[in-house]
Amino acid sequence: MKNLSTTSPNKGIGSFFSFVESNSKKFYNNKTNFNPKNKILFYTGRHAIKFIIETIKLEGNINTFWIPDYYCQHVTSWLKMNYSNIKTYTVNPLENSEVIRAYNFLNDSDVIMVNNFWGLSNCTIDIKNKKVKVIEDHSHGWLSDSCKMSKADYCFASLRKTLPVPLGGIAWKPNGEKLKTNKYINSNMYINLWDKILLGMKKKSEFEYSIKKNESLKNQFLKLVYEAENSLHADYNLVKIDKKHKEVIKSFLKIDYLSFKNKNLNLILKLLQNNNGFNVIKSKSTPFGMTLHFENLKNMNNFKNYLISNKIYPSLLWPDNNTQYGYFLNIHIDYRYTEEDMNFIATTINGFGKN
Ligand SMILES: Cc1ncc(COP(=O)(O)O)c(C=O)c1O
Repeated sequence: MKNLSTTSPNKGIGSFFSFVESNSKKFYNNKTNFNPKNKILFYTGRHAIKFIIETIKLEGNINTFWIPDYYCQHVTSWLKMNYSNIKTYTVNPLENSEVIRAYNFLNDSDVIMVNNFWGLSNCTIDIKNKKVKVIEDHSHGWLSDSCKMSKADYCFASLRKTLPVPLGGIAWKPNGEKLKTNKYINSNMYINLWDKILLGMKKKSEFEYSIKKNESLKNQFLKLVYEAENSLHADYNLVKIDKKHKEVIKSFLKIDYLSFKNKNLNLILKLLQNNNGFNVIKSKSTPFGMTLHFENLKNMNNFKNYLISNKIYPSLLWPDNNTQYGYFLNIHIDYRYTEEDMNFIATTINGFGKN
């Protein structure tokens, strides 16, 4: 595979994946065995949660469905449109080892969702003897130890955050039991959305390999993916995935995405200099990305704009949340990036405020 940064003036760091084949050479020696036998695949993480909730409802009424008060703003509002019995509980996203003392607020027949923050959370929850179901969200911790060794009743993940597929979500029961089938619909809308995002991913790839600047191509793929994302926010159906799309996702599930992140994180951490503006969230485990924590909004915005002006596109996890915990910026360090890229990112970060 060509090294993009030396061939293209268009290469950036971050944002959605460009098209790549699952049998691409770079993935040959990086395979995972983690593959829950009882998994059900979906187009999105949201469909996977809804499927789990509807499955639990087959066994009886859900009293309250608890979600973390610090969480992805799109998913919170999507869930609230689907269910009227949602409440939030307090969780500190800075504390990976926090024990959630959920017995304090749970009642029997409640359901609680626990989020694997930054892929580093231990997901430890104490329910004492309450008769409740626990669901874990491993969207940011796909292949993390908490994900692979979960003891929750149900797990799910938005796979499209980690696998370079147009759409993808997964639900499974860590105890190996089958998830009960539920009524869900076939939808042409999602077949079209898959094709639309795939086209966006292909155009992005063409853009990245092009040796000419091509803003029109860039605008085309951004528009395709932006429109598709908006359609996802506005649709609340539980949709069955098409067979051929399921096969595509399965082929990408074999890849050990964390091994690339681990290597890149080790490289970049050695290069980063101390700074006053933020902390890098560190752990023995490999995170979703390199997560930087800021106390101050102005600092975070200045830094973010500086990165964008250097074609590094971080994501804020998440806007519209409780600011008492500060601000978390994720810098992408996944399989797309090389040692040269880690050098570039570190040099750029170290240069912040020095001009
Ligand atoms: C932590 C987390 N969980 C779940 C989801 C939902 O995934 P999807 O967008 O595939 O529905 C998202 C993102 O949107 C997320 O950030």
